[in-house]
Amino acid sequence: MTPKYLKLKIVGGVGWIYFNRPEKLNALSAEVNLEFEAVLAEWQSEDAVKVIVLAGSEKAFIAGADIAPMSQVAPNKAYDLADVARRVQERLCDLPKPTIAAISGYALGGGCEVALCCDFRIAADNAVFGLPEITLGIIPGGGGTQRLPRLVGLGPATEMIFLGKSIEAFKALDLGLAHQVVPLGQLEAQAQKLAEELMSRPAIALRAAKAALRSAMSTSLKEGLQIEQQLFCQLFATCDQKEGMAAFLEKRKPQFSGQWD
Ligand code: COA
Repeated sequence: MTPKYLKLKIVGGVGWIYFNRPEKLNALSAEVNLEFEAVLAEWQSEDAVKVIVLAGSEKAFIAGADIAPMSQVAPNKAYDLADVARRVQERLCDLPKPTIAAISGYALGGGCEVALCCDFRIAADNAVFGLPEITLGIIPGGGGTQRLPRLVGLGPATEMIFLGKSIEAFKALDLGLAHQVVPLGQLEAQAQKLAEELMSRPAIALRAAKAALRSAMSTSLKEGLQIEQQLFCQLFATCDQKEGMAAFLEKRKPQFSGQWD
């Protein structure tokens, strides 16, 4: 498949997905969402892709869902519209590989929601985050009301969602919405560097860490502790557990293979 609204590249194990609909600031139409979903499905099992980075253009990561078609949606079709966004974003959240959003410019509405589904958010110093749906007479429909308060707390999420006001990169950093802010010109290099750092970690343990952390956002503490324990135990059947511990005891750097015993 050659996508029309996405640009793809793989650099040393890092799969880059660029949203590429510049005339609409990368607004997410149904077509963009379907292309995005297909690439995620393909790269989920693509061995050449170890980490996925999402990016947009200098001006916009993604300026939200496409308002033009949305303005024509009848009440009985709104569910289908929301369902596509929810499905794609859940797939992104559940991806067993680490994901990084490299955000420059606008990350609004669905764009902010896509970023929220990634494991890391690196913001360029011109990044702008927001959930402005209230200004359109609606609320976020792709997970924003659920994932934002879990990440930054109810107070800041309420302010952003009730008022629909955007925040700048350093405010996002203060809130914990962005992990780091970098000069615009260094965004790609920093995202690639973080991806490479992640690739140097034991892949199966990283996958387990992701599953455990994701469950922390959606289960009770009791259930989450059980999930953690199961995942922890499974890792003792990996070569990386043997190698990591042997390397520590032998005072050398570990060479992880990402293999099961
Ligand atoms: N849906 C559809 N089209 C969008 C869009 C969106 N979410 N965001 C931007 N666009 C389009 C604009 O309509 C414009 O198209 P046109 O040239 O055919 O008129 C083009 O992208 C450029 O946007 P423009 O508004 O001219 O750029 P700007 O620099 O003046 O403003 C924004 C940038 C992001 C502040 C502004 O575009 C905006 O508020 N977008 C909507 C954000 C939003 O509400 N997102 C949540 C949707 S649920």
